[in-house]
Formats: sequence, structure tokens, C-alpha cells
Amino acid sequence: MAEAPASAPASPADAPARQGCTVRAPAKINLHLEVLGLRPDGFHELAMVMQTLDLADRLRIRPRSDGMLQLRCDRPGLPTGADNLILQAAQALRQRCGGPALGADIELEKRIPVGAGLAGGSSDAAAALVGLDAAWGLQRPAEELLELAAALGSDVPYCLVGGTRLCFGRGEVLEDAGVGVPPLGVLLIKHPDAQVSTPWAYRRFRDLREDYYLQAEADFERRREALRRGALLRALASGTAFPPLRNDLQQPVAAEVESVATGLTLLGRCQQALAVAMSGSGPSLYALFPTPEQAGRARGELAGELAAAGFESWCCRCTGSGATLEPPEDR
Ligand code: C5P
Repeated sequence: MAEAPASAPASPADAPARQGCTVRAPAKINLHLEVLGLRPDGFHELAMVMQTLDLADRLRIRPRSDGMLQLRCDRPGLPTGADNLILQAAQALRQRCGGPALGADIELEKRIPVGAGLAGGSSDAAAALVGLDAAWGLQRPAEELLELAAALGSDVPYCLVGGTRLCFGRGEVLEDAGVGVPPLGVLLIKHPDAQVSTPWAYRRFRDLREDYYLQAEADFERRREALRRGALLRALASGTAFPPLRNDLQQPVAAEVESVATGLTLLGRCQQALAVAMSGSGPSLYALFPTPEQAGRARGELAGELAAAGFESWCCRCTGSGATLEPPEDR
């Protein structure tokens, strides 16, 4: 789908030569999602721990000098028009930093399930910022890309940096969790027919739990500090003694989406699992294991039941980075 050129400031005369690139856009899971309160801007104040996985989309970018932005995707039915966050990211970047002649052909290799709570769309947008910054020779500072990312969506800044992070505010305030890359195995499952709209999940939470909202910044900070010092980060650092994982959207979504309730029961049967939870606003679910090999064995043991209930499944490892340019020799 093509996007018309935008009007914007002229591109820098001393910009390096433009060239094509390929960017990895990894999926994330929420290891903790706590709703603290409702903000004046209508978003929820959150305290989260996010983790990137080795399940990733890939963006192949070829710069053009006629101002056209074209997006194609290998998954039929995925919208590739102006609403796609990749094209919104491209427009935002060239309006801020480039010129109307900056264009690109972008091919999206879609591997992350859509509408799944795995930040696939946000990660694609982050990858577009990284890839177009390189392909257009802009070399914008990381802070500027983070600012553009925050305007595109709450999870997009995290998707730029990835790894194990505490995410506060509406999700865009990032802190390093200081635990290294957890050597865990992750068994991820999702029913292909289930999709959850994030605004709907937050509305459900609000309908059910509004009276639990904290109001004062001091109370928010107490919860952030509890997360920084809590059992989850200690478990991630040591690989043992995982507490039950908290996702405040899980119960409201499981009450309405049958596959979430079914999948949680199935994953709950894994003997070796350290913890089981829904990711983000769902409907993806995961179980954590001490090693990727144990995640693979659990997938094998559950294969019959997962297939009978119609679930897709992936065995993943944790990774330490977000949207990343691939080395030229791998392209
Ligand atoms: O920021 P993003 O576009 O990803 O958010 C999608 C929707 O999720 C928002 O419009 C809002 O309904 C909900 N949301 C929220 N609080 C957040 C993040 C998202 O209520 N911190």
C-alpha cells in the first residue's frame, strides 16, 4: 500500500549515503502488569516488567528518493495502509528529521501473532524507526527515536530497547531491571481465532476494578519500589523461586475469552513450569521453564491437548535487545 509524500523540512546535506537494511522486531511478554491508577490523559498508570523473546518479525527496507512509502506484508489480510504503525513511524520520522523526498519500500515478514498481547505492531514500528534512521542516513540520537516512539504507542519505546525492563508511566518510562538475560525457556500459546483489543481489555478492567485505583503519586512510587525490590526480579536474577506472576488484565480477559481460561488450565498442568500467565492484554499465554529444553519437552507432552483445543504454540528464549539492525552479511 502506498503513502503520498509528506511536506517536511529539507534533509540534512551532510547525511551519509542511503542504503537498504533488514531489522529484527522481537515479540515481548509481560512478566508483570500492574494497573496502578487512571491518568488525566485517559491512559492507565502502569508498573510492568517486560521481556523480549527470540520470536521476531523482520522488516526489509529499501530507501527511495521519490517520497513514496510502500508497505507489503507476507501475511494476507494484514492492513498495510496509513493506519499501519510502520507507516505512521515512517511519516513521523521523516516529518521530524528528513524531507519530503525520503521514501522507502518496506517488506514485513510477519511471524509474531497479531492482536495477541505480544507487541507485534509496536515492535514493527520500533523496527521501522531504527531501520529508516539507518536507511535514510539520519543517525538521530536514541533519545529522539524514543520520543517519536512514545508518540506512536505506549509499548513502542520499550520495543526499541528490549531486554528485561521495568516499564512505568503508560509504559514508556523505562528502567533496566539489572538482571541480565534470563536463561529461561518460554512456552507460548495462542488460539488462532482469538484476538483481544487492548482498549477493550482496559475498559473491562476499569468496569470491574475502578475502586482499586491508587490516586497519589506517593502510592504509585511505593508500588514501583516494591516491584524493584520484589521477588520477581530476584527470581529472574537467580532463575529460581518464582512468585506467582501478576497481570491485572488476566482475570477480566479470561472471564470473557474462552481460550484464555482453557489455555491457562492447560499450561497449569506443566509440572516443570516456574510460572504461568497471560501476556499484556492477551490472548497469548505463556509458561516459564528453567531452560529452553524443558519448555520444548513440556510442549511435546502437551502437544495432543494443545492440538485438540486448537492452540498454536512456540518455544522461545529470552533476548536482551529490542529492534536490531541485522549485519549486512545476514541480509
Ligand atoms: O498506547 P497504545 O496505543 O498502545 O494504547 C492502546 C490503548 O490501550 C489505549 O488507547 C488505552 O485504551 C489502553 N491503554 C491504557 N493505558 C496504558 C496503555 C494503553 O489504558 N498505559
